[in-house]
Amino acid sequence: MTKGALALLITGGTENWSPARWRERFLAVCPERAVALLPHDKIDPAAVHYAAVWKPLPGSLKAFPNLAAIFNLGAGVDALMADPTLPDVPIVRVADADLTGRMTEYAVMHVLIHHRHQRYIDACQRDRLWAPPLQRAASAVRVGVMGLGVLGRDAADVLRRLGFNVAGWSRTQKAIPGMKTFAGEAELSTFLGRTDILVCLLPLTPATRGILNRRTFSLLARDGVLDGPVVINAGRGGLQVESDLLAALDDDTLAAATLDVFATEPLPTDSPLWSHPKVTVSPHNAADTDPDAISVYVAEQIARHERGEPLQNAVDRGLGY
Ligand code: NDP
Ligand code: OXD
Repeated sequence: MTKGALALLITGGTENWSPARWRERFLAVCPERAVALLPHDKIDPAAVHYAAVWKPLPGSLKAFPNLAAIFNLGAGVDALMADPTLPDVPIVRVADADLTGRMTEYAVMHVLIHHRHQRYIDACQRDRLWAPPLQRAASAVRVGVMGLGVLGRDAADVLRRLGFNVAGWSRTQKAIPGMKTFAGEAELSTFLGRTDILVCLLPLTPATRGILNRRTFSLLARDGVLDGPVVINAGRGGLQVESDLLAALDDDTLAAATLDVFATEPLPTDSPLWSHPKVTVSPHNAADTDPDAISVYVAEQIARHERGEPLQNAVDRGLGY
């Protein structure tokens, strides 16, 4: 029997993350089924049973009457969820060790840059200045991880193993050995009040949009060993209110911010964030979805489905993540 075809609907991407590279990878890992990169390749819409997508044009998935599942080629599904015409089939997102490891690298690197005063040390080197800062132990720094899902949990675990005093905040209560956890709106201010470095790894949903705002910043700890509270956001740009962030940096409510994600991407060249002395900008590359690793992940999920086993990492449409 002919296997259901896989349609690829992939917007944008860099050379390293190009639609053509995804096609090459899926042709290699799904040799037994038709793979079509749309809109370039021709395919009978009725033959398509699976779609692997990244930011597909709204309405484009309606074209396939026999669609059985959608594979989002990233962990965050906010762009998909914004399409009101999305077919009512399971949506699987990426939850994979390759992606998780990349995000943990990013979170750990930027926590360490703040903890070890690296931007100050770089400035000293430029000025040929030998002026070591007072360096505290990691245990003196309270890191708070917002979002204890696949990514937040791993980053929190590694930061804790490095010696940081780590706590986490999530929607539902968690019990994690050796880590203080907080849940829901009721415990948010207590969580923020014990946090020197806030690492945000939340999904963007109606409940989390704009959560990194003036009130949140003002609730962070002000009695820590750093120069003031620090925010690191690698979740989504819609989580932060950029005007609140800039105001909080300018009036010293925040000592620094590291941002990988923005309301508008690419970050417009005239954004004040680019040149703000307290801001570190990275180009939404905290954790790229690697075509080599993730094509294999999707092929395995399709195989599970065709064996009659449940799909893994399915999105809860009601919650939006
Ligand atoms: P998960 O779905 O595994 O985890 C989400 C976490 O957020 C869960 O702990 C969840 O709580 C918590 N959460 C959701 N809504 C709320 C809320 N209203 N209040 C409190 N906590 C909430 O997601 P991942 O860890 O896999 O990914 C997180 C996000 O990271 C993605 O959605 C994406 O936006 C972003 N990302 C960014 C990348 C980049 O390169 N910058 C790369 C990959 C992902 P609970 O456990 O109780 O359900
Ligand atoms: C993702 C991302 O959600 O790359 O995976 O942002």
